[in-house]
Amino acid sequence: MDKKTAIAIDGPAGAGKSTIARMLAEKLGIVYIDTGAMYRAVALEAVRRGIDTKDRKKLEEMVREVDISIKLTGQGQAVFLGKENVNHLIRTPEISIGSSNVAAVPEVRKKMVELQREIAGTNSIVMDGRDIGTRVIPDAGLKIFLTASVEERAKRRYKELNEAGNTSVTLQEVEDDIRYRDLNDMTRDCDPLRPADDAKILDTTGIPVEQVVELIMEELYKLMED
Ligand code: DC
Repeated sequence: MDKKTAIAIDGPAGAGKSTIARMLAEKLGIVYIDTGAMYRAVALEAVRRGIDTKDRKKLEEMVREVDISIKLTGQGQAVFLGKENVNHLIRTPEISIGSSNVAAVPEVRKKMVELQREIAGTNSIVMDGRDIGTRVIPDAGLKIFLTASVEERAKRRYKELNEAGNTSVTLQEVEDDIRYRDLNDMTRDCDPLRPADDAKILDTTGIPVEQVVELIMEELYKLMED
């Protein structure tokens, strides 16, 4: 492993990345970074400005001036637009779809990747996203690509949303959102969602998160032995 430990966890929406990455970071006593939150903050800013999240030209202009940052707090990560903590505003269905749209714009990705690399350069981290192993930290000590069936991912995301108090959304809406984002995230030209060549692919369908964390820990032990 490098001087700064970096574990990259990529995969589609609802594959369990954030829960698993957070648990892993806790076990290892290192920082967990959710890069999706940054794309969600960009989408929120676009919606607030009345910009269509598919309008590349306007998004390119916007992202040049928008001030996005991540702060590490005792409760985990907080994403800021300027001085405003927007963590509680970025988990709506509109922002989910918008984040996948803005993430297809190369200028948006360029700025987010720079910010993410800055964080990875100064902290030992578990970072989750779509392009962490392929673009953000291609020399990460361990790369994991998590996947699961669409149906299971939809059920998990639906449960998460319900537990967070969002009871207005239906399971079908969550599944539609996931299918839309899968296609969008996998087919964009710039750094599409795909496993890095050296990633360990884990299909988590039917596997409890604790067990997935253990499987990843085993991969880490193997690396340490090498
Ligand atoms: O992880 P998430 O569901 O919060 O991510 C929201 C969207 O952001 C996702 O549909 C695609 C995009 N994203 C990305 O393109 N690259 C990343 N590293 C993280 C997220």
